Amino acid sequence: MTKTAVVTGGTAGIGLETALGLAGAGFSVTVVGRDADRGAGAADRINATNPAHPARFLAADLGSLGQVRALADRVAAEHAASGDPLTVLVNNVGAMFPKRQNLDGVEASFVVNHLSPYLLTELLLPTLTGGAPSRIVNVTSGAVGLAKKSFHAVEPPGGYYGFHWYGRAKLANLAYTLDLADRLKGTATSVFAADPGGAATDMTNGTLSDPKVVSPALRLLWPLVRRTFERSTSGPASVAARPSIVAATDEALAGRTGIVIGAQAHPVTPPRAAADPRTAADVRRLSERYAPLTAT
Ligand SMILES: NC(=O)c1ccc[n+]([C@@H]2O[C@H](COP(=O)([O-])OP(=O)(O)OC[C@H]3O[C@@H](n4cnc5c(N)ncnc54)[C@H](OP(=O)(O)O)[C@@H]3O)[C@@H](O)[C@H]2O)c1
Repeated sequence: MTKTAVVTGGTAGIGLETALGLAGAGFSVTVVGRDADRGAGAADRINATNPAHPARFLAADLGSLGQVRALADRVAAEHAASGDPLTVLVNNVGAMFPKRQNLDGVEASFVVNHLSPYLLTELLLPTLTGGAPSRIVNVTSGAVGLAKKSFHAVEPPGGYYGFHWYGRAKLANLAYTLDLADRLKGTATSVFAADPGGAATDMTNGTLSDPKVVSPALRLLWPLVRRTFERSTSGPASVAARPSIVAATDEALAGRTGIVIGAQAHPVTPPRAAADPRTAADVRRLSERYAPLTAT
């Protein structure tokens, strides 16, 4: 039986390094991204390492919930046909939007960082639990610590600050991760969050060039904020991928669930806001409303 892994946002940055790590660990890896050339290049790069199973690319824009549903349908159907388990799903895709934008009527950072990975996971749950032992790894961020902790509505009150709204969407996803781990207790599907720390990638390059991405209070400290961000995101993506690779493969985590793997690739205590049952309930309500499992 072939061990298989799907890595979203797996054609560049931390996701590609994660895919390389999983291919090296014997997985048949599917990387997902939007750009076909980049996708082909990523598959070539993985296959150049002579993995036990060839990697492949699947195109999907995970900012579109319709494309998330189509991707899930395809992956589920392929596993049903082949009988191979879906051993690991790494929800690595993530994005920060310096200027506010909508995707299908919902604010973009909430879609890409939470609703999309939520929907992909929920739609693939029968495949993941059916082929267990299996693991779900959701990539989180230190930005949750500076997030608006308001989930009564899909958008928080107040002005748009890209960095904080990104952090809020990551917080929603982390609360979902811990909630899902509870729901799946008693199955052999484990749920982990992985915090990459920071790395120089497309997402971070140039992200903090405009003070408007942070709240007015933080703008007062702009030179310090910018320097801290630049320093913490200067490392290689290969190192930042280690928490995801550990979460996906470490035998010491077998049978465990609901754990956050921190930037040093060891378990860490989750932020209190993410473990709050009220946050989980609010996030669940928003997720079910804005990313229904069946298209309306
Ligand atoms: N870099 C950091 O310092 C840092 C720190 C904390 C957390 N993180 C988290 O780590 C994860 C990876 O970040 P990264 O810095 O490696 O990002 P990145 O370099 O910007 O990631 C790019 C990958 O995501 C794909 N992608 C982007 N938007 C997509 C979409 N709408 N649909 C499908 N694929 C999409 C890209 O391919 P295409 O462009 O071809 O679609 C590419 O494969 C994210 O969840 C991020 O929030 C990163």
